[in-house]
Amino acid sequence: MLTKIKIAVFVSGGGTNLQALIDAEKRGEIKSGTIALVLSDKPQAYALERAKNAGIPTAVLERKAFASQGEYEDAIAALLKEKGIGLIVLASFMRILGENFTKRFDRRIINVHPSLIPSFCGEGFYGLKVHEAALEKGVKVTGATVHFVNEIPDGGEIIMQKAVCVRPGDTPEVLQKRVMQEAEWIILPQATEYVCNQMLNN
Ligand code: GAR
Repeated sequence: MLTKIKIAVFVSGGGTNLQALIDAEKRGEIKSGTIALVLSDKPQAYALERAKNAGIPTAVLERKAFASQGEYEDAIAALLKEKGIGLIVLASFMRILGENFTKRFDRRIINVHPSLIPSFCGEGFYGLKVHEAALEKGVKVTGATVHFVNEIPDGGEIIMQKAVCVRPGDTPEVLQKRVMQEAEWIILPQATEYVCNQMLNN
């Protein structure tokens, strides 16, 4: 019988969300799953250093090494199978996964997005662009969302959300930091534990 779900965290950049997951597992807050692999599409991603410092196996698969998106996704799927991965957590993975891939891993991929979906989400809304759009609109409350991933960018079922206040004078950078600290780093580990727990008990 499985005692813990093996988790693969997909990253592209700095990896502060990955760090939040690593720290939550260390504190025992993620106990139904364990981070078994960190996969990056960028060899220079600092997230890979964070994984190495925590003793987590890493892999780099660059899109440009493959002739098509299909071959790229097949290579990712083969690696996940080899490692016995049960859940994929997209932690600022800046690449859209195709329908073949998301269908193959139905309700086994989750993503953190830095807004309250359905606001400021979908294709083109990533990183600072999300916060720029929120400030331009003048919203007074924003936040973060963790959701299942399907073929529609940021369109899968919502698992968890947390609101964050916008303050007068906020810049996109200041708002991004507050949303990470007050929402993303909290709900991503919580949702990961929730989904792993559900998987173990189903
Ligand atoms: C975070 O704000 C995260 O929400 C965003 O990139 C920033 C850096 O994350 N990700 C996305 O917009 C993904 N759609 P990191 O420090 O975890 O790499």
